[in-house]
Amino acid sequence: MQHLKHCQGLAQVFLIRSQSSRLSKSIIPSLSVWDGNISSRWRSTGGHGRQKYFNDRLPKFRFALAGLLAGSGAVLAYKLQQGKVQWAATSAELPVAETSTPPIYTLEEVTKHRSLDNGVWVTYKGDVYDITEFVAIHPGGDKILLAAGGALEPYWALYAVHQQEHVLEILSKYKIGVLNPESYKKQESANPSDPYSAEPTRHPALQINSLKPFNAEPPASILSDNYITPSVIFFKRNHLPVPRLDPKTYKLEIEGLPDGVVSLSLSELKSRFPKHTITATLQCAGNRRSEMNQVKQVKGLNWGIGAISNATWSGARLRDVLVYYGFGPEVEAKAKHVQFEGLDRDVTGSAYGASIPLNKAVSEESDVLLAYEMNGEDLPPDHGYPVRVVVPGVVGARNVKWLGKIVVSDEESKSHWQQNDYKGFSPGTDWDTVDFKSAPAIQELPIQSAITHPAEGTSLDLSDKELTVKGYAWSGGGREVVRVDVSIDGGKTWHVAKLRSSDTGQHPVPPPPGRAWAWKLWEIDIPVPHRAQELEIVCKAVDNSYNTQPDTVAPIWNLRGVLSNAWHRVKVKVSV
Ligand code: MTE
Repeated sequence: MQHLKHCQGLAQVFLIRSQSSRLSKSIIPSLSVWDGNISSRWRSTGGHGRQKYFNDRLPKFRFALAGLLAGSGAVLAYKLQQGKVQWAATSAELPVAETSTPPIYTLEEVTKHRSLDNGVWVTYKGDVYDITEFVAIHPGGDKILLAAGGALEPYWALYAVHQQEHVLEILSKYKIGVLNPESYKKQESANPSDPYSAEPTRHPALQINSLKPFNAEPPASILSDNYITPSVIFFKRNHLPVPRLDPKTYKLEIEGLPDGVVSLSLSELKSRFPKHTITATLQCAGNRRSEMNQVKQVKGLNWGIGAISNATWSGARLRDVLVYYGFGPEVEAKAKHVQFEGLDRDVTGSAYGASIPLNKAVSEESDVLLAYEMNGEDLPPDHGYPVRVVVPGVVGARNVKWLGKIVVSDEESKSHWQQNDYKGFSPGTDWDTVDFKSAPAIQELPIQSAITHPAEGTSLDLSDKELTVKGYAWSGGGREVVRVDVSIDGGKTWHVAKLRSSDTGQHPVPPPPGRAWAWKLWEIDIPVPHRAQELEIVCKAVDNSYNTQPDTVAPIWNLRGVLSNAWHRVKVKVSV
């Protein structure tokens, strides 16, 4: 779904271009016109008033429609919630003429409509849609044109989030007819198979946020049961289908070093470089996004507190590999970033990508790994088999899975996920004003903690008069969590929790300063006040830089719902 924002920059260009060309011919948003008078759709509707009509509505339509092809059901959901009335009102003002027999088209006729000049037609399940006006106001104009003159199914198969009622409802506004039976049959047989058909099997305990692509988190109730999260329930965050890669033919390319392009096999990676193991927590920038949604709707998967997990990772140090292939002062003088490219690709063939600053990539202390093992075994397919980058202390998005290419460069990755996503904004910034270029890409994450036990809404029987509260705490950049404060009266009084860094207690060897990559689990028993009926449990953590969490969500709310790290609050009832 991130794919949608892929297109936003282009969208602005698209909008301007469209407004000055086709839209300047005063097109209004079209609805079903089955009266056979299709050609009227292509004529100027004339009159200044109508152009103003369309332009006035442009921003409102923009995000309501965004996502129809390349984007996100979440966007649609967002706008539909906010703007359903708006849309309905707008639709009601427009002329609708329907007859019982829609026009019938052949595939050849549809194929001719693949540009703004000739009109943009698509088909879906045998129906024909004229989405020309939609394209003109769609932030991802370049992506949607990929489907022009043909079927939407192959694209929607990749972004299955589209197959939702409200998306189809929007599409239905653009229906102009149906394919003739022969054409439909031909198209059906040509449709490629589901790109998600080779997805790995997943543990049934995972709470699924999106099936295709697969995104899921462990339930809070089991998240802190193990200091090392079992791989099967480790949160999974995929933007695209999981690529199935053959370890025998797998190659990792490295560019930007003095000797030209290096191509490294899996066995060379394993045999040529010392195996290094670290324990590191990964957290998605969207962890706890659902709490931001409670303040005001944001765009993105509705993660609970489980888009975070902790594992041991083994592999070659990125530093060792780069130095082996010629990284030195000469490269260091010019390069500023190290880019990573995955082998999972979107509809345009672009790979998932991200980058990290050069100093993080090559410093001896930063422990960046080209990992081939997770929790002592080969990486599972969902977590990047056969090789992924692990950038400890840094947002999950930079930990590129199914790693295909490394580029040492003077530039950040150009990928959508580096440039137009995973950035933080003011609560005052909205989708009409956001400028992704104005904000830096998220790298080190801020301090975080959450309560895993008890669960929200639980009814507690407190005959023993004490409440056990459990949770996790972690901070980015290798900053060690040094304290977790817990309250059961909404933050009026506080207690200090017991921290642990293994399944039994403190890890025998504390992490070197600045290299505390793994979370701490915490626990505390708190006496419950006499006659309490409801408790508001709150936790907040402090790291060794004395960073702590903000008390409420509203001041850190942002349109993309990232960096959600306010005090975590859980309300429970007490039955004595
Ligand atoms: N790498 C590739 N190639 N494709 C992806 O979709 N998702 C990123 C990152 N690396 C992603 C990727 C994001 S946003 C996160 S949070 C982490 O992987 C999640 O890693 P996990 O699925 O192993 O938990």
